[in-house]
Amino acid sequence: MKTAMQVELGRRLLSALDEQRTSLRETVYGNPLSDYISPEQAELERQKLFQDYPLVMGLSGDLPQAGDFITNDLAGAPILLVRADDGQVNAFLNVCRHRGTRVAEGCGSGRKTFVCPYHGWSYGRDGRLLGITDNRAFGEIDRNSHGLRRLPIKESHGFIWARPAPGEQAFDPDQLLGGLAAELAEFGLDRYAHFETRVLRKRMNWKLVVDTFLEAYHVPILHRNTIAPLINGKVALFDPHKNGNLRMVVSRTTIDELRNLPEERWQLLKHLAIIYVLFPNVVLVWQGDHIETWRVYPAGNGTDECAMHVSLYTPEPTVSEKARAHWDRNMDILLRTVEREDFPLAEAMQRGFRSGAQDHILFGRNEPALAHYHSAVRATLGLPA
Ligand code: FES
Ligand SMILES: [Fe+2]
Repeated sequence: MKTAMQVELGRRLLSALDEQRTSLRETVYGNPLSDYISPEQAELERQKLFQDYPLVMGLSGDLPQAGDFITNDLAGAPILLVRADDGQVNAFLNVCRHRGTRVAEGCGSGRKTFVCPYHGWSYGRDGRLLGITDNRAFGEIDRNSHGLRRLPIKESHGFIWARPAPGEQAFDPDQLLGGLAAELAEFGLDRYAHFETRVLRKRMNWKLVVDTFLEAYHVPILHRNTIAPLINGKVALFDPHKNGNLRMVVSRTTIDELRNLPEERWQLLKHLAIIYVLFPNVVLVWQGDHIETWRVYPAGNGTDECAMHVSLYTPEPTVSEKARAHWDRNMDILLRTVEREDFPLAEAMQRGFRSGAQDHILFGRNEPALAHYHSAVRATLGLPA
C-alpha cells in the first residue's frame, strides 16, 4: 500500500477510533434465506460463479519453479495448474484424453511429465500428449489435438486465475478486481512464499464462510476470550469496490503507538487486519506481516455443504526451524479461532435457516460489507435486487 494511502487510512482509522465510529450503510439490509438454502440458486451459483467465472486458484508462490504443480478439485471441474519451462502457468482439466482419469494428484515440484496411472499415457508441462502406451493400438492419433484440455488462465499481481470451464474467451484480472488491482499490486504478492494449505469441509453454505469475515460486530462478543483483546472490534472501515470486491479494515490495539509518531514515520500495515473479498469466493486477509487466503466452494449436491482451501503465505520462504515454528503457530491461531468459535455457530445458522423461524436475516447498518457482497452475488446471478 502506497505511503500516501497508508497515511490517509491511518488518519481515517484514528479519528474513527476516537469517536468509536464504524462504517455505516444507509439502511438495514434484509437478506432472503433463499440465498443459503435455495437449490435453484445453488445451481445458478455452480454454473455462473464456479464454472464460468474466473477464480483465484492461488498465488504465484504456489508454483515458484518450472514443473511445480497444484491440483484443485473443489472448483467446478478437476483442475491442474503447472508452471511450464517458459515461466508461464498453464491450467488444464485434470482429465486424461484416453479414457478420462486423473493425470495428477495433490501438488508437487519439478515434475517433467504427468503420467496417467491407468494406462500410462504421458503429458508434458505444456499439456502436450507425449507418449501413448502400445502406440500401434491407436493407429494414427493426432497428438496435437489430444493434449490436456486447456483452461483460460492469467497470472498477474501475484495471483493466478483460471476459469474452470474450457473455452477461448479471455478475461482481464484488473477488471475482475474491480478497482483493487493497484492497491493489491503494492503488496508485492508475487514475492510471497506458500507456507501451507489445508482443506476444510463444513456443513454450511459456502457464503457463510465469506460472511464470517465481513463484519467485526461479533468480535467483542464471540471472540471475547481470544482475539477481542487484541483488536478494536467496534470500529471497521468498509470500502466497496466494483464487481462484488471490497476492503474492510480493522485495527489492532497497537495502533495507538502511531499517535506519538509523526505521520512520515507511520508503519501502519503492521497494526492492521485488512480483509479483501476477491469476488466471488476468495477472502484474502492481510495479517500485519503475512497473508491468509480462504478460497471457498460449494460441496455436495445441495446448499448446506462447503469446502475451502485455507492458505498461509509468508513474505520470505521458510528456511529455519524457528521460522517454521513461528508460522505454524500463526496457522494454528487462524484455524483455532474459526474452527472453535466462528464455524460451529455458522453451521448452527445453516440449520436454523431451515427451521421456519424467518424468511430473511438482517444485516445491520454496521454490517455494510455483508450487504455489498450479497447484493453483488444476486446481481451476478441475475436475481432481482
Ligand atoms: S485413462 Fe489415461 S491412459 Fe488410459
Ligand atoms: Fe470471527
